[in-house]
Amino acid sequence: MIFYFSGTGNTRFIASQLSEATGERLIPIATAVLDGKYDYELAASERIGFCFPIHGWRPPFIVRDFVKRLQLKGYQGNYCYGFATCGDDVGLAFDYLREDLLSAGITLDSAFSVIMPETYNFPVIDQIDTPENARRKIADAKDRLSRLLPAVVECRRGVTDVNESRWPRINSRLLGSFFVKHWVTDAKFTVDAEACLRCGKCRQVCPVGNIECPEGKLPRWRHNGLCTTCFACYHHCPAHAIDFAGRTRGKRQYYFDKNLTSEN
Ligand SMILES: Cc1cc2nc3c(=O)[nH]c(=O)nc-3n(C[C@H](O)[C@H](O)[C@H](O)COP(=O)(O)O)c2cc1C
Repeated sequence: MIFYFSGTGNTRFIASQLSEATGERLIPIATAVLDGKYDYELAASERIGFCFPIHGWRPPFIVRDFVKRLQLKGYQGNYCYGFATCGDDVGLAFDYLREDLLSAGITLDSAFSVIMPETYNFPVIDQIDTPENARRKIADAKDRLSRLLPAVVECRRGVTDVNESRWPRINSRLLGSFFVKHWVTDAKFTVDAEACLRCGKCRQVCPVGNIECPEGKLPRWRHNGLCTTCFACYHHCPAHAIDFAGRTRGKRQYYFDKNLTSEN
């Protein structure tokens, strides 16, 4: 089984490729959390995968909370791997995943990461890739994935193939904790009422069901405690009407689209 969380689709793409290669089922973590479902039954030699984007050099808190509460019936040292997508590097994210899994009685056997287009557009410069860069990064990611897949398919243990970063402790522990404390919040999203089309796209794409948008009305955040600031609402808005902390107006938008995986 493959548990995954994805805001803007990069990780969903990687998880679906893993599912195709292994023939194993995909389980969206956000849906599981909304349903309060934490117990699953494992088949005898079934692999356990955790796919997630890197947020502040850590797994998003929704992934960490889910993992800590997970109950896997039938677990007998089944092969368990983590697969992260990131804009640049993962820091010590897999140390956090390993610890969280241990608290659920599960051992992480192998860890992989792949660079995908950037989705964090804050706080200063426009960090989002141009469409050409995004296309190139996705092509490179597909190449890298095809090199990594055999390790997962063959259940190779003890593999750590990740781009860690130059100062992983500073990134994950220091900046990561600052990030989680101050910047993971839905309170900083605002909507430009003039520009908003009231189309409800933001409600549809929010992976954690945190936005309501009654017909013809402006979207409102429900503040349900599950917002990871994945930026799906910001990136998908067809009118670019959603802003984060007054710093994202006029900056680029991106979300994974399978057309970006084609050669043209
Ligand atoms: C809130 C947030 C924080 C992020 N932090 C990092 C980071 O610390 N390091 C990094 O390399 N990429 C970071 N990124 C980029 C994402 O990890 C990357 O674009 C990922 O592929 C997005 O996956 P998704 O489309 O499945 O949500 C961040 C993105 C967001 C939205």
